[in-house]
Amino acid sequence: MPEPLLQFDHVTKEFDLNKNWFGKPSNAFRAVNEVTWQVEQGAALGIVGESGCGKSTMARMAVGLELPTSGEVRFAGKTLGQWLKEDAILLRQSVQMVFQDPSASLNPRQRIREILELQLQRLTDFRAEQRTQRMEEVLEQVQLPSATLERYPHEFSGGQAQRISIARALISKPKLLLLDEPVSALDVSVQAQILLLLEEMRKELGVTYVFISHDLAVVEQLCPNVLVMYAGSIVESGPTRQLFEHRRHPYTDLLIKSVPVPGKSLELKSEEKADLENQGGCTFRNRCPKANQQCSRVPNLREVRGSIGGHECACHYPLSEAA
Ligand SMILES: Nc1ncnc2c1ncn2[C@@H]1O[C@H](COP(=O)(O)OP(=O)(O)OP(=O)(O)O)[C@@H](O)[C@H]1O
Ligand SMILES: [Mg+2]
Repeated sequence: MPEPLLQFDHVTKEFDLNKNWFGKPSNAFRAVNEVTWQVEQGAALGIVGESGCGKSTMARMAVGLELPTSGEVRFAGKTLGQWLKEDAILLRQSVQMVFQDPSASLNPRQRIREILELQLQRLTDFRAEQRTQRMEEVLEQVQLPSATLERYPHEFSGGQAQRISIARALISKPKLLLLDEPVSALDVSVQAQILLLLEEMRKELGVTYVFISHDLAVVEQLCPNVLVMYAGSIVESGPTRQLFEHRRHPYTDLLIKSVPVPGKSLELKSEEKADLENQGGCTFRNRCPKANQQCSRVPNLREVRGSIGGHECACHYPLSEAA
């Protein structure tokens, strides 16, 4: 069994929307609700769900940009709290993130050489000539010429800029890459090129991916396993193809039926905050065609009977196999 590289163990993240006069939270919003999942070394896990369901908050906790309100996030067996205390640089070197909007994540006043070199200076003790060699190597991996180094971010197309963001994330040879909607801002043909590049690099470099997207078709292409999130909770998880074909949660069904065309992003009306006000029950019950009184109890994530490969669903009345 491969070792889990990243583990979320009953992780909750609350944001304080208002603080009272004493600085105490008076209206905490639960963006991530008691999630438990893991990703093994060398694997690629997709996370899907509509806008606001907590995907980016999970990614930020995975890289240590946010700390959980409760529960533990572990990388290579050690909690992120311990990593940050004992060796924050090694953590940053090993866990990197690529964001949705490449041009916004690259400093417009710096040449690509400065952007990449700064990352190497922060995260490695390479000497100047080793840094140059590594920059050229990583640009080759993302299929950009070394002349790229002398140019500024605005001189590149969206797809090229995303390749530069990926190069910056890979330059410290991370073990884990969090990709937060890395192709959403790109048109479909450029999306396909970047996805191919990511797939090749995963095989070549053995980097573990956590890939976040609204777009189910994109996740299906890159990730053998997937988590479906709704309003901060995992409602279904398992092998991607099996889960999409034999979905058991009414929300996954809605998600798939809302995306009739591969590559088309999901646009659902987000009502999760209102749903969360129904404390104590299934967060999806307000929108669920199958909801009844049992749904005032929170459904736990349970293995789907007769499934293979760890297909799990959190629903009192999962859709039948025929759905
Ligand atoms: N710093 C913050 N303070 C208060 N609320 C926050 C904060 N960050 C996120 N949230 C809230 O937490 C919820 C989850 O946000 P998150 O960014 O994780 O969603 P998401 O699934 O990534 O959405 P999208 O697909 O639009 O990127 C949202 O309702 C958001 O408004
Ligand atoms: Mg997000």
